[in-house]
Amino acid sequence: TKHLLGIKNLDPEEIELIFETADNFKDVLNRPIKKVPSLRDVTVANVFFENSTRTKLSFELAEKRLSADVINFSSSGSSVKKGETLLDTVNNILAMKVDMVVMRHSSPGAPHFLSKHIDANIINAGDGTHEHPTQALLDTFSIRERTGDVAGKKVVIVGDILHSRVALSNIFALQKLGAEVMVCGPATLLPKHIGSLGVKVELDIRKALEWCDVANVLRIQLERQKMRYFPSLREYSLYYGINKQLLDSLDKEIVIMHPGPINRGVEITSDVADSEHSIILDQVENGVAIRMAVLYLLAGNVE
Ligand code: CP
Repeated sequence: TKHLLGIKNLDPEEIELIFETADNFKDVLNRPIKKVPSLRDVTVANVFFENSTRTKLSFELAEKRLSADVINFSSSGSSVKKGETLLDTVNNILAMKVDMVVMRHSSPGAPHFLSKHIDANIINAGDGTHEHPTQALLDTFSIRERTGDVAGKKVVIVGDILHSRVALSNIFALQKLGAEVMVCGPATLLPKHIGSLGVKVELDIRKALEWCDVANVLRIQLERQKMRYFPSLREYSLYYGINKQLLDSLDKEIVIMHPGPINRGVEITSDVADSEHSIILDQVENGVAIRMAVLYLLAGNVE
């Protein structure tokens, strides 16, 4: 495989290979010397047309740990603002002899479009409301790390499913690894045809939490909502917010995840996000090893 555009077309065996490679890199990252020479003659461009903290820094750190040469591009402050197209922008970057492109873009399909027109390896770092493959890989890797295995686990994805690339990539990854998947949120934030993906659909958050082993709580994506938000944030947090009182009222413990950035007090309260049940910062830590694994495997360094 030359590109990582989404989880949809990955085999379970390919995901397992990424996990095993990430296990090795996680060991490396816990050593005093965290750098390996694997990508020494490889140049990677991180091309971000949309804001990011975790994904951008995590990819950059992964590339540097692998000894790649790294250049960073953000559309704000670039000649995109003068009207330069996506293809011209990327072709100009590639003219500087770049081997791999990590791209985030607000348009679904933007990395797929690029992959048909340029020669470099492309990694999708989030394309609009479509996919965010490395997020789903680090999420499922973190479930495996905390619970021992993804297969057989019941995972509920909570909240703004309609606008979430994290939800779609997680649904594909969880199903390929043998988990049962439920989505839970207000009907206005669930895609009409979500049931056709083979997931359970639940509108009642209490029932969803009673069912699951793991809850992946999503951010309400105000920037993607074209219409006035319904329900209001106050109503959302009242009916769907994950808080300590709600979790304490269940007669079991649930692993809590969130891809970040968090709207504290909206989809999740601080006493849950920062509790021992939360693996939110483990997800971020694992993101570096997962991205090292993806970069390493795509660069063709499989032994
Ligand atoms: N989870 C995630 O993609 O975060 P960023 O938008 O900060 O990269």
